[in-house]
This record gives sequence, C-alpha cells and structure tokens, in this order.
Amino acid sequence: MNKAVILVGGPSRATRFRPLSMHLPQPLFPVGGKPIIWHQIKALSMVKDLKEIILIGFFEDFIFRPFLNRCQEEFPEIAFKYLREYSQLGTAGGFFHFRDQIVRGNPKNIFMLYTDICCSFPLNDLLSQHERHGRLGTIMVTKVDRSSAHLYGCVVVDNETKLAEHYVEKPETYVSDLASTGVFVFSQEIFRFMATALEKRVDEFENERAKESAYGRSEESDETEDANRLRLEQDVLRQMAAEKKLSAFMCTGFWRQIKSAASAVPANALYLKKALGDNESFLSKTTIDGPEITGAVYIHPTAQIHPTAVIGPNVSIHARVVVGPGVRINDSIVLDNVSIKDNAAILHAIVGWDCRIGKWGRVEGSQITSPDDIDEVTHLGVKVNSICILGEDVQVKDEVFIRNSIVLPHKEMAGNKHNEIIM
Ligand code: GTP
Repeated sequence: MNKAVILVGGPSRATRFRPLSMHLPQPLFPVGGKPIIWHQIKALSMVKDLKEIILIGFFEDFIFRPFLNRCQEEFPEIAFKYLREYSQLGTAGGFFHFRDQIVRGNPKNIFMLYTDICCSFPLNDLLSQHERHGRLGTIMVTKVDRSSAHLYGCVVVDNETKLAEHYVEKPETYVSDLASTGVFVFSQEIFRFMATALEKRVDEFENERAKESAYGRSEESDETEDANRLRLEQDVLRQMAAEKKLSAFMCTGFWRQIKSAASAVPANALYLKKALGDNESFLSKTTIDGPEITGAVYIHPTAQIHPTAVIGPNVSIHARVVVGPGVRINDSIVLDNVSIKDNAAILHAIVGWDCRIGKWGRVEGSQITSPDDIDEVTHLGVKVNSICILGEDVQVKDEVFIRNSIVLPHKEMAGNKHNEIIM
C-alpha cells in the first residue's frame, strides 16, 4: 500500500501570491479550471495502490474541509485527511511530527508533494524507478536553464546509477542544471533518518540560543524559530545525498513553479493544453450559436458568454461570469462573478472575483516567456513585462486601459495605468 502527503503551507506563506491569496489560500486557487492541489490529487489518484492522501499545513482545519469532501466524492477509493501543524514546522517538520499517522497501515512508499508547482506528474514512473533502486528516497528533478539554476535546489546525478551525489539548495556558483521539482517518494525508514536530522537541528538550535543569550540578544522567538522546524532541503536531502541514500528521477514532462500570482497564468495554460491533448470533455468548443473558441479554453457552465465574443487560447472563465458582445479574452484567468462589458479586452491577465470591466476597457499584461518564476516587479512600484492582475472587486471604468499592473482589491480605476502597483 502507498500513501501521499501534500504540503499546503499556511496563511503566512504565499506572500508572493498576493493579492490573490488575500481571498483564498493559494493551494485552492484555480488553474486549468481546478484548484492548484486538485492536479496533485488527480495525479496521485492514478498511482497504483495509493490509499490515502494527507494534507499537512497550518491553515485552520475548516479551510480545506469543503474541498476535501468534494475530493472524497470524486475519488472514493482514497481516504483524505487534513493535519494541522501547531506552528510552521518547515518542509520536513510537519511530515516528521505526524509520522505515526502517516505510517498507520504500514505503507511501503510515501509520496511527498509541494503545492506551489504545476507538473505533468509522472508519478507511476517515479515510483517504478524508486522501487527498482531501493534507496531511502527518490527526488524528481527537471532540467532548468543553466543561468537560472541558482534559483533552485540543485542535484548532481550519476546518470548510470541514478544516484543523487550532491544536493545544494540555491547554490551561489553553478553546481548542476537539474533542479528539485518538489516531488519526492520515500520508503518508511525515512522517519528514522529524519529523527537523526532533527536531533542535529535541535543541538544547533540550542547552541544558537546559548550564543544569543551570552551576547544579550532577545530571548523572544518569532514564529519561524522552532527547534522542531526541519527543512527537507537543507536538513534532510543534503544529508541523504551525502550518505548515498537518495536517487534522482528525471521528469520529462512539463514543470514550473507557482510562486507569484503572475505564474498562475502560465500554469493555467500548461494544464489547459494538457487537457486539450488528453481530449478532456470539460473544455469548451466553438458551437453554432456560441462564441468563437480558439485553443484550450475552460468555461464554467454558469458563465454567460455573448456569441460575438472571441475566447482563447489558454483561458479559464469561472462561475457566473458575464461576458458581453465583442469581448476578446486571451491567455487569462477570469474568476467568479466578473462582468465584462461590450468590446473590452482581457489579455495575459487575471481578473479577480467580482470585478467589473467597462465598455472598451482593456486589461493587458505581457506574456511570460521565461520558464522561471522570477518576480518581474522592480522597486518603487515600477514594473516591466508582467501579467496584469486585478484583485477582488476592482472596477475598471469604460475605455480605461490597465497595462502590466497589479491592482489591489476594492479599487475603482477611472484613469489609465501602466506599469504600476495600485495599492
Ligand atoms: P522558496 O523558493 O524560498 O519559496 O522555497 P521552496 O521552493 O523550497 O518552497 P517553500 O519551502 O517555501 O515551500 C515548498 C512547499 O512546502 C510549498 O507547497 C509550501 O506551501 C510548503 N511549506 C513550506 N513551509 C511549510 C511548513 O512549515 N509547513 C507546511 N505544512 N508546509 C510548508
């Protein structure tokens, strides 16, 4: 039997995902027509003999309940659980803390997946290779551009044996162009290994504390300081590689991070294109009396789209959206209850819940071409080349043009804005 853990973080994380994470937790934000973590869950549902999926985070318990109830109906063969950390325990701390619940039922393999990624998730291939090599864990890696390798956890891999020889988190000098994808599978013995890593961490923590009080610094701890805070990358994977207990599996499908709010747009496009390739029936098609649809487009059944609108490619339109005549929408996510009036254009953008776009209004960003989720906003509110984002309940008046900007919730935009963050 196999199990999986998905790390969902908590309200104090995902700061780069603002303003969209001000309305709902990042893992539940929709890309490709579904919440981000639904894609992890769907992929896990296809893993052989996977019986349980546990979400670990420090959001309040009720936040994920409705979503997990829906998952339970959609994937009845799998048991779902949410476990809440008492504080932010790090990428391995919560996993270790809840080990008794994770090993209940004696799972042979335990997947761990991060939330802030979008991926083709070749999990059965990952599992087969993990079982073939019989090491303590396998990390899924992907090839990244050499010039941006320093943004990732980098892995040096022996091609023949698939041994991960070194793991370096965000190296300052070039180490490898194979980056960690945030997808792992471990054997149950990982918890013994983590126990040793945690002991070391607690020792380090106490030494630091002793030094701090010797120098008279504050004894008060902030929320990130906890002796039980265990980092998967620095405290566990690095040591596993050093002890030759880590394998690497190469992901040949698509992968990218979803860190900033803007990165939801390319993630949306990747999942929609995958759905188009898989011939998924939930995608929209041009009909005789409907709007013109090009490429991969998802339209919620309750949305009303005028037949003269032109939608796509790579567009998700959510519940109760009303799109007027002559509207053009391309490479964008339009969230619930948005109204878009006649002849408006939405290009490379995210339009937040309850926004209203007036006639001939234009919300336009620039297409993201870099595969790396680098924050393209420069200092002092001056921005270059970014997706245009409207937070919840923003009103764009008739003929107003919002370009390459981020607008925080509840604003009324009566004049044009270019390359700005509107607070
Ligand atoms: P950055 O590039 O610095 O953001 O680091 P990273 O890519 O390693 O990502 P990060 O460590 O921030 O998060 C990876 C995943 O783990 C995300 O899905 C987070 O939501 C989740 N995560 C991070 N810290 C915690 C934690 O303390 N507890 C839980 N449960 N999840 C966490």
